[in-house]
Amino acid sequence: MSIHCTLAGIGRYAPDKILSNSDLEKLVDTTDEWIVTRTGIRERRIADEGMTTADMAAKASAMAIENAGFTPEDITHILLATLTPDSAVPPGATSLALRLGIKHIAAMDVNAACSGFLYCLDLARAITHMDSDAKVLVTASDTLSHRTNWDDRTTCILFGDASGSAVVTADQGPGKGGRVLDIMLSSDPAWGPMLTVHGGYSGHPYKKGQPIDDEYFIQMQGREVYKHAVRSMTAISLELLARNGYTPDDVDVLVPHQANVRIIEAVGKKIGVPREQVFVNADRYGNTSAASAPLAMSEAYDTGFIKPGHLVLMTTFGGGFTWGSALVRF
Ligand code: ACO
Repeated sequence: MSIHCTLAGIGRYAPDKILSNSDLEKLVDTTDEWIVTRTGIRERRIADEGMTTADMAAKASAMAIENAGFTPEDITHILLATLTPDSAVPPGATSLALRLGIKHIAAMDVNAACSGFLYCLDLARAITHMDSDAKVLVTASDTLSHRTNWDDRTTCILFGDASGSAVVTADQGPGKGGRVLDIMLSSDPAWGPMLTVHGGYSGHPYKKGQPIDDEYFIQMQGREVYKHAVRSMTAISLELLARNGYTPDDVDVLVPHQANVRIIEAVGKKIGVPREQVFVNADRYGNTSAASAPLAMSEAYDTGFIKPGHLVLMTTFGGGFTWGSALVRF
């Protein structure tokens, strides 16, 4: 039997600064037409100079905490999904805690690349099962603009900065927030080299005085990532539905990782969810890494795309490769 938990409140944040495709035309040899045709992305948000992952996370978290009817002091644990923390030490989660004015609680980072939100949600599910009073802040935040090679037209057109957040409590029963019914997660390290950021870590350590090279930025075999993203998100979603006694016809809304509109449409088609039930905001935010899924979920809920009673299927895919799916009854 699956253990349930509740999304008591959700929130999101994206910086104001917009980088459009025509702005990118001035940076690299590309066109708006190429980007829109291949990715569906029209613009993305970029953090202002000095704005950090934790700054954005604090804004999304504050919205989630307020929507849950809590105050920061009510939070018992912080799980921050990120691959771009403000620093390795202190961890991003304590940088977030500092901004929220919270102390004396467990706070840690989780890096599962773009799948980080669902990985943290599963941990929150376990925590709230062990401690029914726990109020776990699950926030995903990435400033991929800092790890983007702005000379590389094959990657710089894809990514943006944002945060998404949820406050997770023990199961409140049907009709109270989003009821997380089940989550499945997976990974396959064989494909790790297809999507990397090596620079500054122990496999490619920084040496004083050494120039920053391409290894410090996102490098990707786009075609391979594309194929595996579609295959993996589809397979795990169908498996999750089946093990909960549902079919694709039962899904009211699909909220996929917003990597690229072609990937999103292919996943919807292969799972069998009609296009009009698939939420898309990649056109306005690009791929915001771990933040992508909660950013989309929060926006879908606030715009009425997700309605109370809806069965929502979330699915994510990221470097590692890592992937996962979750079923939430709103
Ligand atoms: N503008 C113009 N031309 C370009 C650009 C660009 N921005 N980028 C690449 N091209 C060129 C290439 O150089 C190539 O030219 P060539 O044929 O002369 O060699 C041609 O366009 C085709 O390139 P492909 O890489 O084969 O193009 P493809 O159709 O595969 O599209 C893309 C590339 C958009 C990156 C696609 O592979 C993709 O979306 N992959 C998934 C990427 C992704 O979403 N990654 C993240 C998922 S995981 C995560 O979220 C971290």
